[in-house]
Amino acid sequence: MNKKEHWENVFSTKQETEVSWYQQYPKTSIDLIKNLQVPFNAKIIDVGGGDSYLIDALLALGYTNLYLLDISSNAIDRIKNRLGAQASKVTFIVSDILDFVPNDSFDVWHDRASFHFLTDKQDIEKYVLVVSNAINTDGKLIIGTFSENGPKKCSGLEISQYNEETITQLFENKFNKIECIIEEHQTPFDTIQNFIFCSFIKF
Ligand SMILES: C[S@@+](CC[C@H](N)C(=O)[O-])C[C@H]1O[C@@H](n2cnc3c(N)ncnc32)[C@H](O)[C@@H]1O
Repeated sequence: MNKKEHWENVFSTKQETEVSWYQQYPKTSIDLIKNLQVPFNAKIIDVGGGDSYLIDALLALGYTNLYLLDISSNAIDRIKNRLGAQASKVTFIVSDILDFVPNDSFDVWHDRASFHFLTDKQDIEKYVLVVSNAINTDGKLIIGTFSENGPKKCSGLEISQYNEETITQLFENKFNKIECIIEEHQTPFDTIQNFIFCSFIKF
């Protein structure tokens, strides 16, 4: 199974609470976005957003310029169905992030638990390049990954773990660190996954 087939299968066979990354309210992501103090019409993209509740939470807070990218069209269908009429306020993009050639440039790029599936050095470098080209100067980047104290796999796939130093180094040619937060994510199976979230500003 290639990676697109893997994710299409996940989002057609599992209920939302049957996956470890489920959260009813993405508090860490929302706190970090609020801390950026961007205007409500800032162009915000959730990369590898799946059917996460981040978009719902941002809409409820009054953010108006939202994008969601995911490799899985099943994931995007699910969130569209959930949002109903509100879906028309969001731009949805089905793409592998490594193939993403944006028409727009973004003020905020958010990625929770998607970037860490890249384990090949060249793919990681490509992601850094895509991000660097897609974000405006002074634009913000928020990345949440499993930390070095977190799981070694997710959804049966290998992942890359990061700490504050390694994630900062990866983006340091284009981004300055704003802050990093460790999150103990409680899964629906009552286990804990240790995440690191860092926000950056592009110079
Ligand atoms: C563990 S889930 C996290 C979903 C969401 N960010 C959340 O916090 O609930 C990983 C997500 O990344 C997406 N994904 C994985 N690899 C991707 C890629 N190369 N390009 C775009 N999306 C990808 C998957 O389809 C899935 O929705």
